[in-house]
Amino acid sequence: SSMFRFPLVRVRGVPLMSLIAKEWDSIWAFNPDPSDLLISTYPKAGTTWTQEIVDLLLHNGDAEACKRAPTPIRSPFLEIIPPPPVPSGLDLLKKTDPPRIIKTHLPIELVPLGFWENKCKVIYVARNAKDNLVSYYYFDLMNQTQPEPGPFDGYVHKFMRGDLAWGSWYDHVKGYWEAREKRNILYIFYEDMKENPRREVVRIMKYLDLSVSEEVIDRIVDLTSFKNMKENPMANYSCIPKPVFDHSISPFMRKGVVGDWKNHFSDEQSKMFDEDYERQMKGTNIPFRTLI
Ligand code: PPS
Repeated sequence: SSMFRFPLVRVRGVPLMSLIAKEWDSIWAFNPDPSDLLISTYPKAGTTWTQEIVDLLLHNGDAEACKRAPTPIRSPFLEIIPPPPVPSGLDLLKKTDPPRIIKTHLPIELVPLGFWENKCKVIYVARNAKDNLVSYYYFDLMNQTQPEPGPFDGYVHKFMRGDLAWGSWYDHVKGYWEAREKRNILYIFYEDMKENPRREVVRIMKYLDLSVSEEVIDRIVDLTSFKNMKENPMANYSCIPKPVFDHSISPFMRKGVVGDWKNHFSDEQSKMFDEDYERQMKGTNIPFRTLI
């Protein structure tokens, strides 16, 4: 195993990469500008896709402008503390003028209070649990900074227990769902983006109080297709090469589909997962698609 694979350390009960846990006080103290936008997700739910859509909306669909730098520079990752010499999210934010598109994977209770005090806009993207798990499994194989995923069966259990970086998927999606009205959070779904990307781009545009032409909307949908983003070096994370991301193990832009879990879960695993899901999601009405 690699020297980069940092252990997880709990911060207020949530397992985070040890480097993040060590710097927690400065992350928690981050004070955004009211014009900053937060894009929040459980890891692998559609963050990069949404970051690209928002950057393009803010630049009226100008593809070249949105190739000025790779995703993590254009849209800093709030809590990330990468191994040196890569700058931390906080360092990047210090060097970037508002309005900024800030990425986070923090569960809602760990989002710095300044975001609520300043009434920042927040877009939350959720992805169905099984596909989210499969995507995270491949990411943990290729991302040398997080614990090794181990065999798939054990990984399914870790996911159900919330023993992965950034904690429980169930608590994550429920926390933002319950707060969405009070906090004016736009809550969107990966599956809806796949089904009708144009409709979701329009929804994001309206939430941001932007207005771009029909033609620009079409262009944004095209520029943010899986195929185009996979081929775009400023959106496909080729900016983070070995030894941190090993794209030869699994590319960051892996499949980009709904339902890939069916290629990974056995019938038995699926049944066990569904039973546990019922228990963990009891009493919530988040409209995830049923994926039979
Ligand atoms: S991260 O590391 O949390 O920021 O990852 P994140 O961007 O949230 O999730 C990566 C998954 O999203 C898929 N992806 C896309 N799907 C469809 N269309 C577009 N444009 C797109 N861009 C990224 C990416 O392929 C990962 O999913 P999987 O299932 O692993 O392919």
